[in-house]
Amino acid sequence: MIVEDMSVIEQSLRAPGIYEMTLYGESVNRMTTPGQFLHIKIEEGISPLLRRPISICDVDVEKNELSIIYRVEGKGTALLSHKKSGDSVNVLGPLGKGFPIHEDDRGKTALLIGGGVGIPPLYYLAKKLGEAGIKVETLLGFRTAHDIFLEEEFSFVSNLHISTEDGSKGTKGFVTTILEQSSFHYDTFYSCGPLPMLRAVEAVTVTDGYVSLEERMGCGVGACLACVCDTGHAKEGSKDYRKICSDGPVFKAGEVVL
Ligand SMILES: Cc1cc2nc3c(=O)[nH]c(=O)nc-3n(C[C@H](O)[C@H](O)[C@H](O)COP(=O)(O)OP(=O)(O)OC[C@H]3O[C@@H](n4cnc5c(N)ncnc54)[C@H](O)[C@@H]3O)c2cc1C
Ligand code: FES
Repeated sequence: MIVEDMSVIEQSLRAPGIYEMTLYGESVNRMTTPGQFLHIKIEEGISPLLRRPISICDVDVEKNELSIIYRVEGKGTALLSHKKSGDSVNVLGPLGKGFPIHEDDRGKTALLIGGGVGIPPLYYLAKKLGEAGIKVETLLGFRTAHDIFLEEEFSFVSNLHISTEDGSKGTKGFVTTILEQSSFHYDTFYSCGPLPMLRAVEAVTVTDGYVSLEERMGCGVGACLACVCDTGHAKEGSKDYRKICSDGPVFKAGEVVL
């Protein structure tokens, strides 16, 4: 893990409140595990004091560039959305353990299930799975057709299915509605999104898989315990927990209580 002032190459609006930012830095060649994240110090000084975790969405090692896609939630991401080409942001990364890709899965099928801002890290994962000879089916859930982003990109690297809650595009309902209404064959699944979605995914999937959690973080490196979650296997007098920042954010499905 390293710290670098990365340059903003460009920033664009991908959907209402959803921005894509391309960053340049010498450390990009170490950021090639899908599912890892950056911890970004948005402004110098104390406001906001803490870094903000954002997943790596895509990496171009040859150009030393990577992209992130984020939703404006509060002060930190609002300030980030005002950065322009030529500005810089201080980045600590890559952090966390990403999605595992097993070499002997060549020829098998992976099912990717994403919702909201859990979708960006699945894009780089889809590319890497394809490079490893693994077939990819992707299910993405949005609120409405206006909120859709990365549709074209996922269509290039996978067989894409979309759901919208209001039915304005694709299957009406949630990503799990697609799963319930169709019969997919898959050997493993990978999922990232809001907790209720991950709970529903764990309930309806029929194979082993992986879930990636997005929780509030302090240090991002395993030192402050701000991000711990329970495994549900505590023995009397002892706790059994995982740190999302350093043990995760990707866990085997069932390893932590959602
Ligand atoms: C490993 C990881 C990867 C992430 N990847 C992405 C990504 O690729 N794109 C993206 O848009 N967001 C991502 N997030 C969520 C992102 O970190 C938060 O939205 C961001 O920190 C909010 O900062 P803020 O200053 O704008 O909002 P704040 O003012 O800090 O908070 C505004 C709202 O956001 C919620 N929030 C704050 N921090 C988090 C958090 N860590 N996770 C979830 N909700 C939070 C708060 O509860 C509050 O409702 C990721 C989070 C984690 C832990
Ligand atoms: S954020 Fe500090 S231990 Fe995870």
